[in-house]
Amino acid sequence: MKFYLETQGCQMNEHDSEVARAIFVRHGLEESDSPDEADVVVLNTCSVRAGAEKRAISRLNDLARRIQPHALLGAMGCVVERLKEAIFESVHRLDFALGPDALGHLPEILVNRSRRRFWPGEDSLSVLPRLSEGPIRWLVAMRGCNSFCSYCIVPYVRGRERSRPPDEILAEAAELVRLGAREIVVLGQNLAAYSYQGWTLARLLEALSALPGIGWIRYETFYPSDVRADLLERIASEPKLCKFIHTPIQTGSDPVLRAMNRRYTVAEFVELVRNARRIIPGVALSGDLIVGFPTETEADHQNTLRVLDEVRYDFLFHFKYSPRPGTAAYALGDPIPDEVKARRLRDVMLLQRRISAEKNRELVGRELAVLVTSTNPKKPGELQGRTQTNRIVFFEGASSLIGTFVTVKITSSSNFSLRGSIEAVRDQRLPPMMR
Ligand code: SAH
Ligand code: SF4
Ligand code: F3S
Repeated sequence: MKFYLETQGCQMNEHDSEVARAIFVRHGLEESDSPDEADVVVLNTCSVRAGAEKRAISRLNDLARRIQPHALLGAMGCVVERLKEAIFESVHRLDFALGPDALGHLPEILVNRSRRRFWPGEDSLSVLPRLSEGPIRWLVAMRGCNSFCSYCIVPYVRGRERSRPPDEILAEAAELVRLGAREIVVLGQNLAAYSYQGWTLARLLEALSALPGIGWIRYETFYPSDVRADLLERIASEPKLCKFIHTPIQTGSDPVLRAMNRRYTVAEFVELVRNARRIIPGVALSGDLIVGFPTETEADHQNTLRVLDEVRYDFLFHFKYSPRPGTAAYALGDPIPDEVKARRLRDVMLLQRRISAEKNRELVGRELAVLVTSTNPKKPGELQGRTQTNRIVFFEGASSLIGTFVTVKITSSSNFSLRGSIEAVRDQRLPPMMR
C-alpha cells in the first residue's frame, strides 16, 4: 500500500503533514511521489484567503480525476474545519475529511477504510514521533489563536490558544536532535504568548538551548504586543537562538489597525522595532501586511508606505485583503476595487524590494555562519543554506556538507538571496556563534 501527501498553507500545516506521514508509515504504507499509483491520497489545505481555499478545492478535484478507482481520497487542514460536511458537496469523490486537530483518527480511517465522513478536531496536543528528513524540523509549542483580528479565519479553524507542557516540548526536541535536526523551528500562531504554569517563551527557549547537541533554534510567529524585553534579551544573549523575528505589522495606519482589531498602535510597533534592534544587534525582522482592508483610504495606504520605510523590514509578505465568511470584517464587504488593491500591493512590493536589496547588499564582504540545508533546486551542482537571520545563501560545495554549519564569505547579493564561497567548515556538533 502506498500513500501520497501534498501540503498547502503555513508551517503549521507542514508540521501536521509530518505527523500524518508518521502515522501512514507506522501503518505499513510507503510514500509515493505521485498520486497516480497511491492507495491513499491526502491534501492538507489552507483557508487563510479565498484564493487558498479555491486552490484547495480545485486541487482536490484534480486529484479525484487522476487517482486509481480504489484509492481513498482525503482532505485535512483548515478548509475542512471551515466547510465541515459541506466539503463533500464541493468534492464529490472525497472519502474523508479531517479537521486540523483530528489527525488521531487517521489510523482508524486506514484500518476501516471509512468513507464520507467529516472528523472534527478534538483538541489533542499529543504529537507522535515523527519521520522527517533534512536538517530543519518543525516543533509545535502552541496551537490556536485568541486574537480574533477582524479579517482572520485562523481562530475559527484552529481554535483557542493551547500551550504544550514544556517537558513534552523538550522531550520532542531531544528526539528531533537524535533524528538529525540541526535547526528546530518552534511554531505557534501566537508563540510570544506561550504560557504554561509559569513558563514563558523566554524560559522555554532557554531550556531548549541547553539541550545537548541542539543546533540553531528559530521561532514563528510573534504578535507584536506580546513581545517583551525579557524575550528579546534572551534571544540576544543565547548564541543558539536565531537573530530573526517574525512580527507582522499588517498596516501602517492607526484607524485601520483599530478596525482590524489589532492591539497596538503604529507608534508602539515602531518602538518595538527600535528595542529589538537595540537589544539584538544585527537582528533581522520580517512581517506580514495586508493592503485593501475595507476601511483603508488612500491616505492610510500612504501612511503604510511611510511606516514601512521607517521600519525597514528585512523581509515582508504582502497580501491583498480577502473577505472570509464568519469573520468580523466580513460585514464590511469588500469595497476596495481589485485594481486599487493591486496597485497598492505593487507600491508595497517595490518599496520592500528596494529595502531588502539594500539590506542584503550591506552583507557583501562579510563572513556569515550558514547552516547548509540542501542542494540548490535550480542548480543541482550548488548548495544552499540559511544564515541565523534567515537569509538564503548559495555557494559551491559537496552535498556531504548538508546539515553542517559552515562559514560563507558573501560575494554578491540580490533582492532575495546572497551568494558566496565557503571559507571554513565549522564544528558539526557545536553550533557556531553568530557573527
Ligand atoms: N498567526 C500569524 C498569521 C497567520 S496568517 C500571525 O498573526 O503572525 C498569515 C498572514 O496572512 C497574516 O499575518 C495576514 O497578513 C494574512 N491574512 C490573514 N487573513 C487574511 C485575509 N483575510 N486577507 C488577506 N490576508 C490575510
Ligand atoms: Fe490571525 Fe490575528 Fe491570530 Fe494571526 S494573530 S492568526 S492574524 S487572528
Ligand atoms: Fe495556516 Fe492557512 Fe490554516 S495559514 S493555520 S494553513 S488557514
